[in-house]
Amino acid sequence: MKFQGSENYVATQDLMLAVNAAITLKRPLLVKGEPGTGKTMLAEEVAQALDMPLLQWHIKSTTKAQQGLYEYDAVSRLRDSQLNTSDSAERVKDIRNYIVQGVLWQAFTADRPVALLIDEIDKADIEFPNDLLRELDRMEFYCYETRELIKARHRPLVFITSNNEKELPDAFLRRCFFHYIKFPDADTMKQIVDVHFPGLKSELLTVAMKTFYDVRNLPGLKKKPSTSELIDWLKLLMAEDIPLEALQNADNKVSIPPLVGALLKNEQDTTLFEKLVFMNQRNR
Ligand SMILES: Nc1ncnc2c1ncn2[C@@H]1O[C@H](COP(=O)(O)OP(=O)(O)OP(=O)(O)O)[C@@H](O)[C@H]1O
Ligand SMILES: [Mg+2]
Repeated sequence: MKFQGSENYVATQDLMLAVNAAITLKRPLLVKGEPGTGKTMLAEEVAQALDMPLLQWHIKSTTKAQQGLYEYDAVSRLRDSQLNTSDSAERVKDIRNYIVQGVLWQAFTADRPVALLIDEIDKADIEFPNDLLRELDRMEFYCYETRELIKARHRPLVFITSNNEKELPDAFLRRCFFHYIKFPDADTMKQIVDVHFPGLKSELLTVAMKTFYDVRNLPGLKKKPSTSELIDWLKLLMAEDIPLEALQNADNKVSIPPLVGALLKNEQDTTLFEKLVFMNQRNR
């Protein structure tokens, strides 16, 4: 079982190494990186490439670890017990009918190995990763209501992504293999664009990439545009049929690119960029 990239996803050598290391070690792969650098997509693509079903768990600030294991639906049980039909009376007898299985339960009991994505773990509160330590390590947990031990039939391939909004506890980190997706260099970026727009004219690509990296490298930017933003922008440029000249000044100086809203996402950054363009033009 080895991941070697996919048709829709450009994986650098070190990313493939990291995925395969996590598979070998049988540990979760913790992926960090700027927003839009393909963390979520990695799990989807690896699962597809290795022909595994993917179970996804998208974490929010209110998500609790227990929800990934199971939840006991006491309200339904109470309602059934008051309904007084033969059907409900039958259901009430077995507490199992009120156990709602979480993604970990499903992953552990699946009849073939699955991939499991715990997406944006840093959104949850600080206790969340600690609460999952044992489950992810030992691949088992206990259901108190039914008094059964849920043990993984096959060890799932676990992906955990984080945007670094919160630090993860050391004990948690110890159990993961870590990979930081670096922002793609120009060559890798060209490959990524090629995956999305195979027939893109090379002149447009060159000019658009230059503008993109110029914007990205602007010192003091609050939110740097990422891969997904470049892709959105290119899509717009093509849809609107923007001529090359609109992207390029005769003397190659920076100008405000069309549809800049795809790249810059707040007014401070736009102002900063406009100022720079203005200064550049005065210095001519
Ligand atoms: N290596 C890549 N190959 C192909 N497409 C990519 C790659 N990296 C990013 N993309 C594009 O960027 C988009 C965003 O990727 P994704 O949603 O996986 O980012 P993310 O890192 O999970 O971002 P966030 O932290 O905001 O959730 C993808 O839908 C895809 O179009
Ligand atoms: Mg994501």
